[in-house]
Amino acid sequence: MWGAATAAYQIEGAAREDGRTPSIWDTFSHTPGKVFEGHTGDVAVDHYHRFREDVRLMKELGLTAYRFSVSWPRVQPTGRGPAVQKGLDFYRALVDELLAAGIRPAVTLYHWDLPQELEDAGGWPHRATAERFAAYAGLVGDALGDRVDRWTTLNEPWCSAFLGYGSGVHAPGRTDPVAALRAAHHLNLGHGLAVQALRAALPARAEVGVSLNLHQVRPLTGTTEDLDAARRIDAVGNRIWLGPMLEGAYPEDLAADTARLTDWSFVRPADAATAQQALDFLGVNYYTPTLVSAVARVGVGSVMADGGHGGGGHSPWAGADDVVFHQPPGERTAMGWSVDASGLYDLLMRMTREYPDLPLYVTENGAAYEDAVGPDGSVDDPERVAYLHRHLEAVHRAVESGADVRGYFLWSLLDNFEWSYGYAKRFGAVHVDYATQTRTPKASAHWYARLARSGVLPDLPGA
Ligand code: FCB
Repeated sequence: MWGAATAAYQIEGAAREDGRTPSIWDTFSHTPGKVFEGHTGDVAVDHYHRFREDVRLMKELGLTAYRFSVSWPRVQPTGRGPAVQKGLDFYRALVDELLAAGIRPAVTLYHWDLPQELEDAGGWPHRATAERFAAYAGLVGDALGDRVDRWTTLNEPWCSAFLGYGSGVHAPGRTDPVAALRAAHHLNLGHGLAVQALRAALPARAEVGVSLNLHQVRPLTGTTEDLDAARRIDAVGNRIWLGPMLEGAYPEDLAADTARLTDWSFVRPADAATAQQALDFLGVNYYTPTLVSAVARVGVGSVMADGGHGGGGHSPWAGADDVVFHQPPGERTAMGWSVDASGLYDLLMRMTREYPDLPLYVTENGAAYEDAVGPDGSVDDPERVAYLHRHLEAVHRAVESGADVRGYFLWSLLDNFEWSYGYAKRFGAVHVDYATQTRTPKASAHWYARLARSGVLPDLPGA
């Protein structure tokens, strides 16, 4: 499956149309100082009005699958009660357009745009939000279940919990490590409840999973202290999701690491069983590896503030905020993220070892670069071609080593609203001129189209 991925708030725009109410990202982006130069998703890349053109583009690029998210406040504006017909109609029309173009839709139910009213009622730290999420999942399942076969509940719950409620660099911008841990638990619970709601609404052929941004954590040295730093980040970055969702329990070391913050009494006895629902696949999102040590060491790598998750002065790493994050040497993208495809290979192989029966999808992988339209109107992005090439090679190697990877979704189809970076970072295979909304496939899009059509990794230009 050769796909590309997007998310509602990053591309749709039409923020106040057809009954949609504000999500936490509308509120956050309209709060001065939160997003680069005050950028918002009000218009974004106007996908809400241009989706037919965008599906045509996908078809031209030979995509066989498209992963998008449903905006919760567009289909259920207050986060409660019946669905808004116009909101559902938009997604039905999008899906029909995709199916007519021979492109398989993959729906993500939650890519970070919580209805503001639910945040006002307590947000993810509050248990009722998990229940609200399941009800919303059921509504969308009922509306699209006849035509969508692939579903993910949450996208990167780590970001929702720890960037949203811990470091505050994402909406809703709270900086409370206990709230972040509570949010993490209610995201796990919400995932489980939503899987139950989807199973009740969907035909048996539907596949249901979740997309996690698993951290490929590497210790800077082999000392006991550095190995323990890596263990702690693995606990609060990865196993906090893998444990409940796939094994039915939180890891014990996580409870010990966070004991000075909370006794976890917000977890009820039956929650673990609810969070652990049989899944049809695990979606892996990967961009860069994570290099950590227990203490800063002079002269060894450069240290990244706030664990490499951008500014603010508050750590997202609840219970592990003393761990030091390092910038690995070598090439970086425009995000400052190091380019290292071995991290993707290692991650896919770890999942294969630990969960041998769970099929995998790479649901996000890609890179931002400073792309510009050339004098002849084309956009040449050799670094992105090289990035994708190396990462697809890594996926291929993982498949050859036994990983059951069913598909790959490039992040992203279009340049878009990159959260707190606004429109300053371009991840698209297709360039967007934000003043005119003109779409121009970059060289990487043409390269990916050749790959999607032939199934063969083309030679790297100049290699
Ligand atoms: C991921 C997000 C996605 C996009 C990429 C660059 O963490 O899921 O929306 O912002 O990073």
